[in-house]
Amino acid sequence: MNQDFSPLLEAARRYLDIDDAPFYMPGHKRGQGIDREFMSIMGENIFRLDLPELPDLEEPIAEAEVLAADAYGSDRAWFLTNGSTCGVQAMLLATCQQEDKILIGRNCHKATIAGLVINGATPVYLPTDYLPEFDLDLGVSPKTLELFLNLHPDAKAVMLVSPNYFGVCGELAKMVAIAHSFNVPLLVDAAHGAHQGFHPDLPISALQAGADLVVQSTHKVAGSLTQSSILHLQGDRIAVEQVDRALQILRSSSPNLLLMISLDVARRQMAVNGKQLLTYTLGLAKAARSQLNQIPKLRTFSQVEVPNLDDTRLTVMTDCLDITGFEADEYLHSQLDVMAEMPTRSQLVFSLSFGNTQADIDRLVSGLQQLSQETNDCWSATADQQSLVSIPKSRLTPREAYFAKCDRISIDNAIGRISAESLCPYPPGIPLVCIGEEITFEVVEMLQAILRSGGVINGASDDSLKTILVVQ
Ligand SMILES: Cc1ncc(COP(=O)(O)O)c(C=O)c1O
Repeated sequence: MNQDFSPLLEAARRYLDIDDAPFYMPGHKRGQGIDREFMSIMGENIFRLDLPELPDLEEPIAEAEVLAADAYGSDRAWFLTNGSTCGVQAMLLATCQQEDKILIGRNCHKATIAGLVINGATPVYLPTDYLPEFDLDLGVSPKTLELFLNLHPDAKAVMLVSPNYFGVCGELAKMVAIAHSFNVPLLVDAAHGAHQGFHPDLPISALQAGADLVVQSTHKVAGSLTQSSILHLQGDRIAVEQVDRALQILRSSSPNLLLMISLDVARRQMAVNGKQLLTYTLGLAKAARSQLNQIPKLRTFSQVEVPNLDDTRLTVMTDCLDITGFEADEYLHSQLDVMAEMPTRSQLVFSLSFGNTQADIDRLVSGLQQLSQETNDCWSATADQQSLVSIPKSRLTPREAYFAKCDRISIDNAIGRISAESLCPYPPGIPLVCIGEEITFEVVEMLQAILRSGGVINGASDDSLKTILVVQ
């Protein structure tokens, strides 16, 4: 196919020249009625192209999705304008219903738990491996998947995250083979993997590994606008109609055209120039790692230490700086305007892409040099900073817990009760306790430690975490 062509960009270009009398929505009527100050900041074209799904646009949208499927190697692609959140939920709704069992990597994003509230399925959480040296979640291993499939051969699907927030991709091809040997489809939340498959030095993509349904947040690491994602289907384990039906329920009936144009253009960019752009990005990441590793008290890791790592995701360990990742983040942000993607208690994660420049890397390196000089001598914080918490016991499905009667109680009295909310340090948005699970002492301790050290807990109806919603 002609990957150099962008049908939606072409359609947009045509629409810029059309001077219609717009009696359709949105109400700003191609910018004619938009707030003038907003227009002066944003420019005119963005409003002229903020169009609904007009009949003329249906064909280019369909054409753009076909090109995306071709570029990424799937059989069918759907553009999403409500992020991978929508895609994750569509994957769950398309494959499982109330009372079905699904195996889910415990490092799943909170969107997955919300998806379980929607479809009513019973999750069996798969424990993930952990590398203490880097306080690193390694995702689910093939061995664990096989063990759990043997224990739960009636599972309707398996859902894994790959890559995770740290860029760890795991042995996905093996996992696909295992799931398929049990005749179970493998769904992959590849929100962080929209650039995979376009460079030989990156781990293979979930689609290349053979996964059945895959969602990618094109906006996170490739070049589309925030909230735009693509859902892909391959093979015949899941029917196109199942996915269509789920998307009918979950998608907005007013998808944002600007987001869809950006998906089409990002696809073209990756298909045509992806290898070159990623060679550049990997070069930046390599240079950054080698300079950072020379700074006293700082450590990073790459594919050498962690197999199947996406090297464009750069994690800097702050455990020897005598400060947490949250404090390091605050310093870099407030003093130097260097902004990380994610701080944790022991790390700072930087997301690199072809949008970054050498000047960005220079600022990152000199910022961390400065930080290293200003902090005390090394102390081994690792034991205190590790974020490993055992999976709490499931007592109700997420849906049962969501619709159950709830009480708000003091967190001190919550141990042993069933949580009516999913509590996730954010980012990465991975729940420490999921809705429907028993609240443990260990979870409460970890949540409070994260809050004390400057982290944010998402999903808590009481931000201070003094109280929590529990099932009556
Ligand atoms: C692993 C994972 N899955 C899904 C999502 C949700 O993606 P989106 O923000 O595109 O809705 C995120 C967001 O950070 C994520 O990290």
